[in-house]
Amino acid sequence: MKTKIFEIDQKKIDKKLLEEAATILKQGGLVAFPTETVYGLGANALNGDIVSKIFIAKGRPGDNPLIVHIHSMEQLKLLVENIPEEGKLLAKFFWPGPLTMIFKAKESIPAKVRGGLDTVGIRMPSDPVALGFLRLADIPVAAPSANISGRPSPTQGQHVIEDLGGKIDGIIISSNSKIGIESTVIDLTVKPALILRPGSISLEEIEKYIPVKYETSSLTEKPRSPGTKYRHYAPKGDLCIIKGNKTEKIQKFQKVITENMGEKIGILVSEELRFSLEKLNEEKNVVRILGSVKNPRNITANLYKNLREFDSEDVKKIYMEDIPEDISGKAYQNRIVKASGGKVL
Ligand code: TXA
Ligand code: MG
Repeated sequence: MKTKIFEIDQKKIDKKLLEEAATILKQGGLVAFPTETVYGLGANALNGDIVSKIFIAKGRPGDNPLIVHIHSMEQLKLLVENIPEEGKLLAKFFWPGPLTMIFKAKESIPAKVRGGLDTVGIRMPSDPVALGFLRLADIPVAAPSANISGRPSPTQGQHVIEDLGGKIDGIIISSNSKIGIESTVIDLTVKPALILRPGSISLEEIEKYIPVKYETSSLTEKPRSPGTKYRHYAPKGDLCIIKGNKTEKIQKFQKVITENMGEKIGILVSEELRFSLEKLNEEKNVVRILGSVKNPRNITANLYKNLREFDSEDVKKIYMEDIPEDISGKAYQNRIVKASGGKVL
């Protein structure tokens, strides 16, 4: 299949070009588009057969529900049985933005979108190209992250081309995703509301408006968010997180570098730690910089890009510096633990 690429400048949106992409979507095509979190792979959310094509293109398990993207509160009313007060409040303060709310779904939403559940996740993104696209299409758009299932989510148009080029009808390419990790997912069908997936909007921010807790069900129970049970966000190589204070981290890095003399390995560290490490063997090993610990937002924004770069260098083992939660935040930690399968040194 030939994939049409639409390059759109966020600061000077070419409405005609965006309209062309929206028309493909309305006619039943799959179109990837940028958002402030990660790129999404969109399809008409009201047609189960069309939505099925998303699962095929991504190789996604069929029981993992999709987020429906909207551009207005009027659209929300068409999708949700009744909007609880909590939803109205959070929409007022966080939409458009990186927050997905789970509501009781209207029956008109295909089971394929809901992963067979009676609820639906909805988000109004803030990225101007995303909002423009959703307005022009004017249908609810089901969209998971636009990556092959299990790989790190795409934060640049190039990542989407790598994963889905030739498999979908169109890709809208614009600026790199500003936030760089997926939205906060909150379930409003229970009281108190539950955060199913941490994101850049924190529990503390949400708590200012409504009572909320983290979901705590372990991997052995049935998670409320089916997507959380799969291995996720992972590079192809084996990822191991290196923890400790600065001296301990340095010692551990030097040890793994020595132990892996005969093999090409990946090393992912902060700017600050990079300067304290010796004998990195950069002719052989692949060394990437997370960013400065003084700018944790930047570290988060570049996380998936960095993990993907090791894939293109074909490294089998990656050692990554831990940036503690008080600096990097809960959402970053959540993605790192998933990407590494919990492997630490
Ligand atoms: O930032 C984002 O959320 C991006 C952009 C494209 O919007 N999308 C995204 O979609 O990350 P995806 O499909 O990769 O992740 C959706 C998550 C999954 O963990 C899924 O299980 C959960 O949201 N989810 C969706 N609908 C749900 C529902 N009705 N109940 C519980 N969890 C749901
Ligand atoms: Mg995803």
